[in-house]
Amino acid sequence: MDRTRLHALLARESAEAERRNPRSRAAYEKADHLFGRVPMTWMNKTAGAFPRYLAGARGARITDVDGHEYIDFCLGDTGAMAGHSPAAVTEAVDRRYGALGGATAMLPTEDAEWVGAELTRRFGLARWSFSLTATDANRWAIRLARAVTGRPKILFNSYCYHGSVDESLIVVGPDGRGTARPGNVGAPCDVTLTSRVAEFNDLAGLERELAHGDVAAVLMEPALTNIGIVLPEPGYLAGVRDLTRRYGTLLINDETHTFSAGPGGCTAAWDLDPDLLTIGKAI
Ligand SMILES: Cc1ncc(COP(=O)(O)O)c(C=O)c1O
Repeated sequence: MDRTRLHALLARESAEAERRNPRSRAAYEKADHLFGRVPMTWMNKTAGAFPRYLAGARGARITDVDGHEYIDFCLGDTGAMAGHSPAAVTEAVDRRYGALGGATAMLPTEDAEWVGAELTRRFGLARWSFSLTATDANRWAIRLARAVTGRPKILFNSYCYHGSVDESLIVVGPDGRGTARPGNVGAPCDVTLTSRVAEFNDLAGLERELAHGDVAAVLMEPALTNIGIVLPEPGYLAGVRDLTRRYGTLLINDETHTFSAGPGGCTAAWDLDPDLLTIGKAI
């Protein structure tokens, strides 16, 4: 690959992006009170020298503050899987927040049981609990799994993503053993104290780790979705279920992204039977 040419092309595209987006650029330059100039630091990973600033979004289209319209292939990382601001959601939010009033009153609403029943209809699990993010849902599920089993460790797949869950930031190292994921700053302790790890689609590796008898739960996606899509090989998910049962380990399926497989996520589509299930973003 001709890297000189690559640099020249990148410089050309970056200059063109700056020329076309003066308002986004000005907003970024003005943001002195935000750490890294953005509300969430990963927004600096955008292509180009600064992110585009949102003006509005509806359906599958986004408009930025410089008036460019984009077709949105990201859809809020599945948070807007059904399109941006669909009418049914807009009306329900308006009714609760505007017409009835109250979004943070620390009381349950009657709607919550309806949502729980609907989730049971779709996914088959009997009881539901609410949190504000998928990260939090995973933390809660981990806590429950440790409480129920009395075991200390959680097992993850290498290069999984379940939000900023400290326990999950473990990968299979070059020697085949679990090690901290590179770039994980501010870890509370050595991740091998809290976690074990196996490669996705590796049942032998999974069994080797579960055989220690200290794993409260396997927390996994039915298909890995954050390093491209890695689909399960035939028999893998059934093998995970068999092994977790054999070694007294609970199975938590994170359907935050894989929910896009259909109304009951991969659980319904592939007839899965997890002990716990987490889902975020779109819900
Ligand atoms: C599979 C999975 N679980 C959990 C999360 C964390 O979601 P949240 O940002 O709602 O905490 C993500 C985020 O991308 C995810 O992909």
